[in-house]
Amino acid sequence: MVQYEFELFHAAQRLINEILGVQEGEIVCVTADTSSNQAVANTIAAAAFAAGAKPMTIWTPTPLGVGKAADSMLPEDSLVGALSNCDVWIEINQQWLLYSTTFDKTMASNKDIRYINLVGMNPDMMIRTIGRVDILLLREFLDLVTEITSSGKHIRVTTPAGTDLEFENHPDREFINHSGIVPKGTYEMLPGQVSWTPKLETINGTMVIDGTLTPPCGHLEEPVKLTIEKGRVVKIEGGMQAEQFRKWLESFDDENMYQLAHISYGFNPGARLSGDIVEDERVWGATEWGIGNIGPRLVPDIPGGVPAASHCDGINLNSSVWVDGKQILDRGKVVYPEKLVELAKKLGTL
Ligand SMILES: [Fe+2]
Repeated sequence: MVQYEFELFHAAQRLINEILGVQEGEIVCVTADTSSNQAVANTIAAAAFAAGAKPMTIWTPTPLGVGKAADSMLPEDSLVGALSNCDVWIEINQQWLLYSTTFDKTMASNKDIRYINLVGMNPDMMIRTIGRVDILLLREFLDLVTEITSSGKHIRVTTPAGTDLEFENHPDREFINHSGIVPKGTYEMLPGQVSWTPKLETINGTMVIDGTLTPPCGHLEEPVKLTIEKGRVVKIEGGMQAEQFRKWLESFDDENMYQLAHISYGFNPGARLSGDIVEDERVWGATEWGIGNIGPRLVPDIPGGVPAASHCDGINLNSSVWVDGKQILDRGKVVYPEKLVELAKKLGTL
């Protein structure tokens, strides 16, 4: 028997019914590689079958890279053929297909596909971040916190570890709210994250990354302190891992690698700091900063985005956040307004 088999099936049902809204007769494809968790793949397919859908699970060898680096190792035409003719695609590959040529061709030919990326999902994480979360309530919370934050002009973020940053929101840049709704024809991620790119030149202060810094460090043994001027990293301080990070950035010989790319709120009540970036960036009350490449979706006012050789994400735990001088988060806990506090309480985070 699979460990936590009952709970895992319950989590898979939440994914199939509440997040993906799978209907009777729909074709649901699960893609996995030989490093993926077999219980997760089979249980998702079982929940789809129980919903009256037609599930199909496709296993491929684990490529040696992700995205386009996996291209030459994938049975591209066959994958595109299957995925172009399904209603729902759930990706649990360890070495992800997202942004591969297979992915691009599938999205181009299947305009109505509902795709969710659950890279590296395992039973424990799925039970905590989906199964035990009231997805509809979380969606309400995420919509409201997005509305409050995006309607503000000036934001300040501090953490007990020493982060103290301020910036202005950009009126033309969309907040990307991963709220557990999977629209047709686009890609969606695990619920519990909101990302946006502020006016880059207005970001100033100190960032102390104390969760994970991925790549290149992963879990941090000691904090990495960055000095930020006009949206750029100008100083890196700390111990061995700060040095590792400094060398990693330097190795690209690319000025845009020092550019801040986005801030994100982590708001999944079940997420824990696990070293898996998908989960780490959803730890409740954390803020995450992306550094490096900025995709066009975050900066629609800059055609093509801001290209850089790579991108990394650093987690700042237990954040306090002020929107136009009003404090909404205090060391990771929601404190204002009342409606948001109420939802946070119902989600078990207060
Ligand atoms: Fe990022």
